Formats: sequence, C-alpha cells, structure tokens
Amino acid sequence: MAEDLILVSGDKQKKYESLFTQLKALIGNEGDQTAVLANVAAGLKQGFEFFWVGFYLVKDGELVLGPFQGTVACMRIQYGKGVCGTAWKNKSAILVDDVDQFPGHIACSSFSKSEVVIPLIKNGEVLGVLDIDSDELAAFDALDLEQLQEFCTWLASRL
Ligand code: SME
Repeated sequence: MAEDLILVSGDKQKKYESLFTQLKALIGNEGDQTAVLANVAAGLKQGFEFFWVGFYLVKDGELVLGPFQGTVACMRIQYGKGVCGTAWKNKSAILVDDVDQFPGHIACSSFSKSEVVIPLIKNGEVLGVLDIDSDELAAFDALDLEQLQEFCTWLASRL
C-alpha cells in the first residue's frame, strides 16, 4: 500500500478506528520493532496532532526513550517514577488531566499539560509504554483510553 494515511474528520471514535485500521495494514508482517513503533508514533501524531507521542521501552530495568514524534524528551525513566514509570509499575494505563497535580510527574516539556500512558503488555510482562502528551488540560477521556488500550494490546502482541 502507499504510505499515506487517509485522515477522517469529526467523530473521535471513527478517527481512531480509521487510523488503527490503516496502521495495522501498514505494519502488516513487519518484524522490526523500531520500524513498527516509529510509524505508530507518526500515525498518532499526524492523525490527532497531539503535542508529543512516543514510546519508552524497558531495557535493563529502566525505561529508555524509543521512537517518538515531538520535542526532545528525557531519555531514561526509573521504575515507579513519573507517569510512565508508574504505569509500568502498576501494569495499567494512567490518564492525567493536569500533570502538575500528578506527584512526581517528569516535566520533559513545560508545554505538556495532560497525558495518557498505556503499558505494552505481552505475556504478563511490560515491554514498554506508549506516552501521549497534550498541550491542553484534560485533553484525554475514557474513549481515548479505551481505543488506545485496545490498540496497544494488539501492538504488544506484535512486538
Ligand atoms: N510524561 C512522562 C515523562 C515523559 S515526557 O512527557 C515525554 C512522565 O512523567 O512519566
């Protein structure tokens, strides 16, 4: 297929469904983790114009910055630290309406106001996290969480 995304406007659920259908087709049988995660980050950034979209991957007991789209970011996050490290520790997604209210939030950019972090879990093990930041407060809701979690379940199974 051509590597162009067709972006639908309007309804958020339809936007997610359309984007994820296209990303799954684009990824196909690709086995290279960097290639897969890079296109997921690009697709989400392109489709929703989030401020920052990227992955942190578990390597030697810490999270290390992986493929992302956006401004430069901190490269290593410790287990249980910040939103990402907490999502890793809890093995569950975290939605933060106001990052200033999250104890221990790691401020990579002063523009980040809210975020959602979803762990990538395969066979009960956290491989990394998807981190999406917005420059608006409370930019994410239950629908974002549900759609992103469903996609991340599929994505983790492909890693
Ligand atoms: N939000 C993260 C830090 C990573 S940057 O936002 C890209 C956290 O507190 O875990």
